[in-house]
Amino acid sequence: MIQALLVALAAAAVVTAQTCALPSSYKWNSTAALAAPKSGWASLKDFTHAPYNGQHLVYATYHDTGSTWGSMGFSTFSDWSQMGSATQTQMTAGSAVAPTLFLFAPKNIWILAHQWGSATFSYRTSTNPTNANGWSGDNTLFTGKISSSSTGAIDQTLIGDSSNMYLFFAGDNGSIYRASMPIGNFPGSFGSSFTTVMSGSSNDLFEGVQVYKLKGQTKWLMLVESIGGNGRYFRSYTATSLGGSWTADKTSESAPFAGKANSGASWTNDISHGDLVRDNADQTMEVDPCHLQLLYQGRSPSSGGDYGLLPYRPGVLTLTNPGTASGGTGGGTTTITTTTTTANNGGGTGCTTPIYGQCGGDGFTGCTVCAGSTCTFSNQWYSQCL
Ligand SMILES: *[C@@H]1O[C@H](CO)[C@@H](O)[C@H](O)[C@H]1NC(C)=O
Ligand SMILES: *[C@@H]1O[C@H](CO)[C@@H](O)[C@H](O)[C@H]1NC(C)=O
Repeated sequence: MIQALLVALAAAAVVTAQTCALPSSYKWNSTAALAAPKSGWASLKDFTHAPYNGQHLVYATYHDTGSTWGSMGFSTFSDWSQMGSATQTQMTAGSAVAPTLFLFAPKNIWILAHQWGSATFSYRTSTNPTNANGWSGDNTLFTGKISSSSTGAIDQTLIGDSSNMYLFFAGDNGSIYRASMPIGNFPGSFGSSFTTVMSGSSNDLFEGVQVYKLKGQTKWLMLVESIGGNGRYFRSYTATSLGGSWTADKTSESAPFAGKANSGASWTNDISHGDLVRDNADQTMEVDPCHLQLLYQGRSPSSGGDYGLLPYRPGVLTLTNPGTASGGTGGGTTTITTTTTTANNGGGTGCTTPIYGQCGGDGFTGCTVCAGSTCTFSNQWYSQCL
C-alpha cells in the first residue's frame, strides 16, 4: 500500500519575465582588446562562445607568426576582464578553424563544428569541452560544394528548433546558404544539398554568418559580416522560422547592426567574426535581446599587409539601448503564487521540467523542479535540468 503524503508549498516569486524588441538603431559600447595571442601567434580570431558552469568558454582560430592557421581554446573565466590571463591551448590533433561551440542538449554532448577538416565542414564531440585536446576526431558535417567562390564554403554555424537542425554558411561571394536535417539525426552529416537563402554583392554578404533565437520571441536573428569602406561590419536580418526567408534589419555601414559607426570602440575599426554571448549553451542558440553582447575580433586601424598576420584580438560590445521591453512587468513587479504538490511515493504530480529544460534564471516563471535530473545554475539568466 502506498501512503501518499501531500505537501503543498506556496512560493511567491517576483516576475520580471520580459523580452525586448530589437532597437531601431543599435548603439554599443566596447571593451578594449581583451587578450593578446600567446607567444608565436600573430592573431586570435573567429571566436565562438558558450556559457559553462557560470563561466565563459571560448574557442577561436589563431594564425601563427609564419603562415599557418590553427585553432585553440581559452581556459574558462568568469569575467571578460579575465580573458587576457586565461590559458591559450593549441588544439594539437588537427585544427578546428572558425569553430562553432554548443551543447547538443537532446544527447547531452558538446559539439565543435569547423571548416577545413576532412569534409567541407566537420564536427567533433566531447563530454568535457574545457579540454581543448579532449575532442573526438573529425566527423563529416557537410559535403556540399559551392561554385563561384574563391574560398569555397566557409564559416558554418549551427542552430536547432524543436524539429530540425540547420547549418548556415557563407562563401565570400555574396550568398548565404542553408542545409537542414531532422533533429533526431544529429549529430551526423547534412549531406551535400543546400539552399541559397540570400544573395547580394560579395562585400555585403561576405562571411561570418551567425544565427540566433531571440529569447521570449518566435523570431530568429542572423548576422552577416560585410566589407565596408571603413572596415568590417555586421548586417542583421530576422526570420520567423529557421526554414523561412530573411528580412533586412540593419544593412547599411552607416547604421549597421555593429560596426565602426556604432560600436563605441576606439582601438579597432573592424567589428568582425565573432559570436553573440548566449545565456544557454544549447543548440537553440538563444540570446536575450534585453542583454546583447557581441564577442568580436578587432585590430589596430594602423595594421595592414598579409591578411593572415593582421593582429586580430578579441573585444566585447554591449548593447546600450535595448529596444522596448514587453511580455513582462516593465518597471513594476507582479507576485505569483505557485503551488507545488509532492508525494512521498515518488509518484507526485507536481509541475516538473524534463532533462535539459530550463528550470530557473531571472525572469523564468516555469517549473523549477527537475524530473530525474538536477537544476544546475548556468548563469544569472539560466539554470538547466542536467
Ligand atoms: C556564389 O556562389 C553561388 C553558388 O555557387 C552562385 O550561384 C553565385 O552566383 C555566386 N555569387 C557570386 C557573387 O559570385
Ligand atoms: C557598457 O554599457 C553597459 C550597460 O549600459 C555598462 O554596464 C558597462 O559598464 C559599459 N561598459 C563599458 C566598457 O563602457
